[in-house]
Amino acid sequence: MDIVIVKNYIEMSKYAAGLVGDCIRNEEHPVLGLATGGTPIGLYQLLVRQYRECLLSFKNVRTFNLDEYIGLDPTHSKSYHRYMQEHLFSHIDIPRDQTFIPDGMAASLQRECRHYEKLLKKFGPPDLQILGIGENGHIGFNEPGSDFDGHTHVIRLADSTREANARYFQSLNEVPTHAITMGVKSILRSKKIVLLASGERKAAAVNRLLEGKPDPDFPASALTQHQNVVLVVDQQAFGK
Ligand code: GLP
Repeated sequence: MDIVIVKNYIEMSKYAAGLVGDCIRNEEHPVLGLATGGTPIGLYQLLVRQYRECLLSFKNVRTFNLDEYIGLDPTHSKSYHRYMQEHLFSHIDIPRDQTFIPDGMAASLQRECRHYEKLLKKFGPPDLQILGIGENGHIGFNEPGSDFDGHTHVIRLADSTREANARYFQSLNEVPTHAITMGVKSILRSKKIVLLASGERKAAAVNRLLEGKPDPDFPASALTQHQNVVLVVDQQAFGK
């Protein structure tokens, strides 16, 4: 794992935007794996700026999001569908049918998981996967105890994840209890993975990741088994 330590959130976002920009310019049909949460918002703002300045076009890009809450309509203000529209898709020239996010409202969630995995196989794997890290080490919504061989599946969110994400909702009660997430194995198929971590809140997780031992109780540790991972971490999250 390559480790890039940067000064702060802005520098982390700039570094990541550089990698995404390179990927889009270098690949004929780039496939990006995208994450949600607070961490990649700065990255998405920079990508939108580069598009507006005609430095980047997303016309040939396909995107796959890691996860979606179960039970939230795509128009729900806290759904990841809506998040992606607000932070990225509605501001750039990416065709709608080239963006993929699991459907958390699907009548058959099992069928939706299989369908998403098929799409990933057909168009993927991502050339570059953006990841954040949960305070408990989750990646996507692969919670502690997740199988490293797992594909896209339904997961019950850990109490600590619901509590951490309650800051994005009006109250803890509103935070969905389940999600669809790409599995650890689906994530590890990506050609390159860029893991972003910013702020003191992530320091313990980053520290544990750097211990380097694969442990299903700490899903991000699966990344140590991948040959092309860049951890872009700011000084606060690096904790040293
Ligand atoms: C969320 C998402 C992850 C994200 C992580 C960290 O629950 N499912 O994809 O990376 O938790 O979120 P944040 O960036 O807001 O700290």
